[in-house]
Amino acid sequence: MDISSILQGGYQHPLSRSWQAKRQLTKSMLMYPIFITDDADAEVEIPSLPGQKRWGVNKLEGFIAPLVKKGLKSVILFGVPLKCEKDMAGTPADDPDGPVVQGIKLLRARFPSLYIATDVCLCEYTAHGHCGVLHADGTIDTEPSVARIAQVAASYARAGAHCVAPSDMMDGRIKAIKRALIDAGFGNKCTLMSYSAKFASALYGPFRDAAGSAPSFGDRKCYQLPPAAKGLARRAILRDTSEGADIIMVKPALPYLDIIQDAAELAPDHPLACYQVSGEYAMIYAGARAGVYDLRTMAFETCESMLRAGCTLILTYFTPQFLDWLDE
Ligand code: PBG
Ligand code: ZN
Repeated sequence: MDISSILQGGYQHPLSRSWQAKRQLTKSMLMYPIFITDDADAEVEIPSLPGQKRWGVNKLEGFIAPLVKKGLKSVILFGVPLKCEKDMAGTPADDPDGPVVQGIKLLRARFPSLYIATDVCLCEYTAHGHCGVLHADGTIDTEPSVARIAQVAASYARAGAHCVAPSDMMDGRIKAIKRALIDAGFGNKCTLMSYSAKFASALYGPFRDAAGSAPSFGDRKCYQLPPAAKGLARRAILRDTSEGADIIMVKPALPYLDIIQDAAELAPDHPLACYQVSGEYAMIYAGARAGVYDLRTMAFETCESMLRAGCTLILTYFTPQFLDWLDE
């Protein structure tokens, strides 16, 4: 055998195998998505998202405390209004007594070291379930959409969110939100994480179940990106960096590793997030249950592929398990 043929000498030990990665998965890279509902005492299983629940504000502390003890560093909050009146402007989104504003305040008060991000969108709060404000014909009315989304983002910043993360995909919202944050005095107090390359994916189904945010008619294909659109994704990433995004996100993650790699190249000076979405999580669970692979091995393999592609931060429902697994 020729000397240049031999690679196996370099990775025969678990430790030397770990050195083959440019970066290792760590607890601080994980952001945990949680669903907060307006029934304050709720603790309700979400059948399509095994192990995940909708939490009422009164149950949050007991749920989060053990995770913080294990090393949880950050969460991203999603509001699930079940009892309130939804309308055309998504008024409940920043209701001062609503689940997100109340959740931010509670978590800030009880867990001073926890980094709190909030998803910003209207679909959970509009009567029609679309992510923006609509014209009479059902198409997106961009200007009022962006204005309302910026207003909601500023409300979350005022409530104490460390980071606002718009997932609506309306044109121009990053610039408008950055402006609104600055005007409200939060230019230097709140991070803007853009869901920049968010695709119209089949993988959001369990989330829409969990959040009650499925559109009542049509789909999201005129604002979320077409799955084959590499060029549009690149343009959206560049646009959002120029409009003032502090963090760029790609979503979903596993079917879009090439886009993560593109984002790492196009925005090398920004943190890069990717979202292992509800359908990816459910798929990994279902495969493990069907005996296709071991759950933990597959969870690591998927997240390590995201790191390899260039992300520096992963939003994943596996966060609680990783807090245990990364200790072992
Ligand atoms: C709201 C939003 C969605 C997700 C995050 N924010 C759903 C959607 O766009 O339909 C998906 C997250 C997941 O599937 O885990 N716009
Ligand atoms: Zn939405």
